[in-house]
Amino acid sequence: MTTLTTPTGPRTAEAASRLTRRDFPQGFTFGVATSSFQIEGATSEDGRGPSIWDTFCRETGRIRDGSNGDVACDHYHRWEEDLDLIASLGVDAYRFSVAWPRIQPTGSGPALTAGLDFYDRLTDGLMARGVEPHVTLYHWDLPQTLQDAGGWVNRDTAHRFAEYAGIVAERLGDRVRSYATLNEPWCSSILSYMIGEHAPGLRDRRLALAAAHGLLLGHGLAVPEIRCHAPGSQVGIVLNLTPQTPRSEAPADVQAARLADGMANRLFLDPLLRGEYPQDVFAAAGDDAPVVEPGDLETIGAACDFMGVNYYSRGVVGEQGSAVPEDAPVTDMGWEVYPQGLTELLVRLKTDYANLPPLMITENGSAYADRLENGAVHDSERVAYLQTHLGALLDAVQAGVDLRGYFAWSLMDNFEWAWGYEKRFGLVYVDYATQERVLKDSALWYQAFLGKR
Ligand code: FCB
Repeated sequence: MTTLTTPTGPRTAEAASRLTRRDFPQGFTFGVATSSFQIEGATSEDGRGPSIWDTFCRETGRIRDGSNGDVACDHYHRWEEDLDLIASLGVDAYRFSVAWPRIQPTGSGPALTAGLDFYDRLTDGLMARGVEPHVTLYHWDLPQTLQDAGGWVNRDTAHRFAEYAGIVAERLGDRVRSYATLNEPWCSSILSYMIGEHAPGLRDRRLALAAAHGLLLGHGLAVPEIRCHAPGSQVGIVLNLTPQTPRSEAPADVQAARLADGMANRLFLDPLLRGEYPQDVFAAAGDDAPVVEPGDLETIGAACDFMGVNYYSRGVVGEQGSAVPEDAPVTDMGWEVYPQGLTELLVRLKTDYANLPPLMITENGSAYADRLENGAVHDSERVAYLQTHLGALLDAVQAGVDLRGYFAWSLMDNFEWAWGYEKRFGLVYVDYATQERVLKDSALWYQAFLGKR
């Protein structure tokens, strides 16, 4: 077996630890990110309808710790205190998502005023504190009624999504400078309909590929709706992109990594930026490939102002599947810490896609088993993770990639999907028993990096 050694990036960890925001281009946006289902709680308040995640959490064995999103970080009630927390970090921007079932409880029909009011107050509250709101319209909490009708496999969901996007953009308008349609369509299709790990928990490749197409169609239909109601705002999409490295030079490994790259990355990048689906992925899928109707690819290819990239790790792929290289450093998720993968990924995007819009890193972060001791959380591994990834980002900027911003995932510990509350990604520690928020060392470091301390 070939043992892969993790190459050393061009910037040492020591050098990365000395970076400050002044090393980045002027106007570069720094922020923190969250999503509605992971923090809000209040799942049945003010008319909110059930989402697929509420349903999924109630199915036995789906969530590691048997938990759900009913309370989460209680952000729906504590939003003002949380906005103060965000402002205290010294960030320029906050990326949050709107819960579709708060706006349209069954996914269609008239909008609920209470739901829109909540995000309206959040937007104004951010602006009053000098923090730019960056909105994501779909971070996985699909109204259950739409799932009952087939979810993203049903093309009608794409049309419903565009309608909902228009409603939100009409209410929040240009006060929100940045709208992302979807967060990580790979997760809401492949991970949810084929791997079965996320809601709705199916294991069917044909449905997964149809869902991926439905999501992309929804994105393409939503772009003009948002532009119509918020003409001064930036519109884009957020993809989780994971470089897939072959574990050896053996042709079978190289071929496996190429196909893994197709499913993870090109399945989304190519239709968005090249107006075509990757042929190798469709060929490998055979009869499971989705039906693409005339005009779909033109819709999906709607020009965007930015593309959000979520980067956590890479895959090392061989004929037998994907495995973390021996002795590689890993986070509490078991994901390899591989900052140079971020540089490689961004440079590759610039090389491979002539129509690439400006990029934002919309998520990057790490889970570690943090402990609150004497009022402090010494998360030195997370600090190093952030520093080395910011260093990798700067390497990409210096290689000529048009990068406009960076959002750390996440503002605070939250409901980590199938892992429940077991995994902590926050810069801020949440004591779920009391809902107390405590700045971890990583939050204190980010403040200093941003010049707030
Ligand atoms: C991403 C999700 C985000 C969070 C992080 C750890 O895939 O967008 O909600 O769960 O992973």
